[in-house]
Amino acid sequence: MSILRFNSINLSINNLFTNIAITKIEGMKINLKVWRQKSKNAEGSFENYVVNDVSPDMSFLEMLDITNEMLLKDGKNPIAFDHDCREGICGTCGVVINGQAHGPLKGVTTCQLHMRTFKDGDTIVIEPFRATAFPVLRDLVVDRTAFDRIQQAGGFISVNTGSVPDANAIPISKQNSDLAFHAAECIGCGACVAACKNSSAMLFVSAKVSQYALLPQGKVEGKDRVLNMVAAMDNEGFGNCTNTEACEAECPKQISVSNIARLNREYYAAKLS
Ligand code: SF4
Ligand code: FES
Repeated sequence: MSILRFNSINLSINNLFTNIAITKIEGMKINLKVWRQKSKNAEGSFENYVVNDVSPDMSFLEMLDITNEMLLKDGKNPIAFDHDCREGICGTCGVVINGQAHGPLKGVTTCQLHMRTFKDGDTIVIEPFRATAFPVLRDLVVDRTAFDRIQQAGGFISVNTGSVPDANAIPISKQNSDLAFHAAECIGCGACVAACKNSSAMLFVSAKVSQYALLPQGKVEGKDRVLNMVAAMDNEGFGNCTNTEACEAECPKQISVSNIARLNREYYAAKLS
């Protein structure tokens, strides 16, 4: 299959003449080395595939889609991978690409990564997120319900905060509202855990605690929230933070490690009160 691309469009308003040149460009050949694992307790291994005619304009997940079509045609099992929104919102699509969670681009989820990031003939190694608290379910799919349980332990406001006009009537500094908004951008993808040599979930938990701790509405339940969420995090078997900042470097929403400092302050203040 070759790809048709409009590579130049010359419009002349005066004579209303439109000249469209169409050029044929060949797709890329990509070598894939993909982690295949039948189930949680099965042993996994890498399998190699060659995918031809990959358009540079395809998303990474579209490239996996055509790989799966190719596997199905050959009577083989397709590669299991998680995805939903394909817009960088839902946080389900994370995989490790060439050793980096969500791949080589800063601030980009796997679904928003495009094949133009790679070159014809490249070899791409794709693995699931690796952490004890995120067991592999099949191929590239991991169980991230540990994050749900942490969230359920306190990542919410149960007091009545009123309606939108009420919220607008509460004075909040621009600085705090910006910081709260940025913390709320965390999509719960788990890349911070995958990037951390200790499999620490501190960046995720700190974002969830910070988005409330910075706002007056979040302060009412602040003490219980931070104590319960940190206890839930410890119960799930995530490791400790040793300040390598690998989490911030690979977070697709570029959540700042300054949230971890805030989480520690909130935690010790709650413990001592
Ligand atoms: S902090 Fe970043 S890497 Fe971690 S879960 Fe949130 S968005 Fe994903
Ligand atoms: S599929 Fe939703 S963030 Fe990638």
